[in-house]
Amino acid sequence: MNAKERKGFSSSLGLVLATAGSAVGLGNLWRFPYLAAKGGGLFLILYILLSLTFGFALMSTEIAIGRKTGVGPLEAYGRMDRRFSFLGWLSTLAPIPIFSYYCVIGGWVVRYAWRYGSIEHSRSPQGARLFLEDFLASPIAVLFCFLLFFACSAIIVWLGVEKGIEKTSRIAMPLLLVFMIGIAIYSLTLSHTDEDGIRRTAWEGVGIYLIPDLKSLTSKTFLSALTDATGQLFYSLGIAMGVMITFGSYAKKESDLPHAIHLIECFDTGIAILAGLVIIPSVYAFQGVEGLKQSGPELLFVSLPTVFEEMGKIGGAVGALFFLLVLLAALTSAVSLLETVTASLCDRFGCSRHAGILLASAVTLILGGAICMSYNLLPLSFKLPNGATGTLPVLLEYLSNTLLLPIVGLLTCILVGWVTLPSGILEELEIGCKKKSFFRKRIYSGMIRFVCPLLLTVIFLQALGLFS
Ligand code: PHE
Repeated sequence: MNAKERKGFSSSLGLVLATAGSAVGLGNLWRFPYLAAKGGGLFLILYILLSLTFGFALMSTEIAIGRKTGVGPLEAYGRMDRRFSFLGWLSTLAPIPIFSYYCVIGGWVVRYAWRYGSIEHSRSPQGARLFLEDFLASPIAVLFCFLLFFACSAIIVWLGVEKGIEKTSRIAMPLLLVFMIGIAIYSLTLSHTDEDGIRRTAWEGVGIYLIPDLKSLTSKTFLSALTDATGQLFYSLGIAMGVMITFGSYAKKESDLPHAIHLIECFDTGIAILAGLVIIPSVYAFQGVEGLKQSGPELLFVSLPTVFEEMGKIGGAVGALFFLLVLLAALTSAVSLLETVTASLCDRFGCSRHAGILLASAVTLILGGAICMSYNLLPLSFKLPNGATGTLPVLLEYLSNTLLLPIVGLLTCILVGWVTLPSGILEELEIGCKKKSFFRKRIYSGMIRFVCPLLLTVIFLQALGLFS
């Protein structure tokens, strides 16, 4: 993209809301609450601490690289140091399968929002699972919903950084926050009595979520909560996906980056905690601890719908609102991925934004279409490098999230920590910074040189299944 065509965010608030929109996504809703329930309070404490240190260091690094170089990831790494140009390719490659997969799941969310919006939901507890299975068995339905979600993302990116992405986030993020608070308050009022007369209240679920269980704390449970929190934070912030570099390249020189990053962290963690307050108390009240053992699609598309169904009439309205919010969260994340690939292509090959979007879309349509078919017509299974077998989405997730992202993250730490040196990033962070010296400056170098590489190695090895 030539410099004239490269327009950025209108203000710091635009940067904050768009980046928070990218960070707040399906992971906050379907993985954070599950990990939080599993880690019992300890996970939450570690997540917040890591967000202020590990997350801050990595996010600052990428946003600063973006603003310093003024280009997307494909070019940015090479401009930092020629020898690291290959990292640009890796971090432009990673968002492609993630975007394709995200659009397919976004399609599921569209289907669910429609289901509750039109009160077609069934009433038996088995209904939720059957509904999902029926939906996935129909290639046309899955493909149609995928295309709808994909088209919405592409239109937003097509409209531009300020008029599309920033504007959408300016509307979506406050809505998400306000309605999440509303549903969380409602969720806390719930209680349920089983067929065998056992009564559970939502507040008991809050206890499981927030209070650390110090009695059963061992080094093993601590390590497991630590790796869970690190992995979740890394994925949620979209580190190593090139998104932060891209959005950083759209930031104004007068933007106060340390302050903006602090707000993004608060938004991401705040919405994740709220999602926990929506999901954990209600699932606990209706399904007990068993219900909390689900994560991912199972939690969002089976356990929660079961709760909505058991709520009776109001469940339809709560379900519709909830899935609408999930849709907003997923959409603002998806657009950041498409924007990253588009910006990289344009910066590198000098093509127009629209040409970049069309090219990225063509690849997404092929990959996304194949993922849609993998649930019904083409249920191929692949052998993963770690010995397990998985379907196409599992394979793609493995290649991008498990292999590519931690490697890119680790090499970025080496580049900035040891090759170009942290001072370059710190200088960039100080441009526009309102305070003389920002609070976490002192820990930045140690984090990026030692702590972040160590934690990234740990999540990489854990994801490979090397220590369980
Ligand atoms: N934040 C997203 C999530 O939690 C992950 C993601 C990051 C997706 C960046 C897109 C871009 O689901």
